[in-house]
Amino acid sequence: MAVIKINALTVPEESGQQLAERFAARAGAVDGQEGFEGFELLRPTDGRSQWLVLTRWRDEAAFEAWLQSPSFREGHAGLRREAQQGETHPTNSELWSYEVIQSSESPDHS
Ligand code: HEM
Repeated sequence: MAVIKINALTVPEESGQQLAERFAARAGAVDGQEGFEGFELLRPTDGRSQWLVLTRWRDEAAFEAWLQSPSFREGHAGLRREAQQGETHPTNSELWSYEVIQSSESPDHS
């Protein structure tokens, strides 16, 4: 079964729009990565300050390979530029790891 890797980004409320825009202009480098099955950017609707980048991978090895790849660096080139300029947006990030134990989808879901 697939593995789920979540990057939990702490984003002050006033920077949320900016994060959404950055993802709208994302590199797309991950899309062709071997073993990548998809991702969702989740915005909090309950007052939390953590946005989630929920990614899905064929297996642990596929995810680890992406972390070490030029594709990961390309997808995060904006962050390196920021760091060089001494800015830090988002303010924090945490990696959460899960495995899919069971799943179901409604037949009406398209
Ligand atoms: C230091 C930790 C990280 C931070 C602060 C961060 C933040 C960001 C930001 C701001 C973007 C939008 C593109 C940009 O503006 O550069 C992005 C892209 C992305 N991030 Fe991260 N990220 C981090 C690590 C990770 C990790 C560990 C994962 C996977 C669980 C991940 C998954 C993604 C994906 C899938 C994209 C889209 C890349 C593409 O289009 O190729 N990120 N990240």
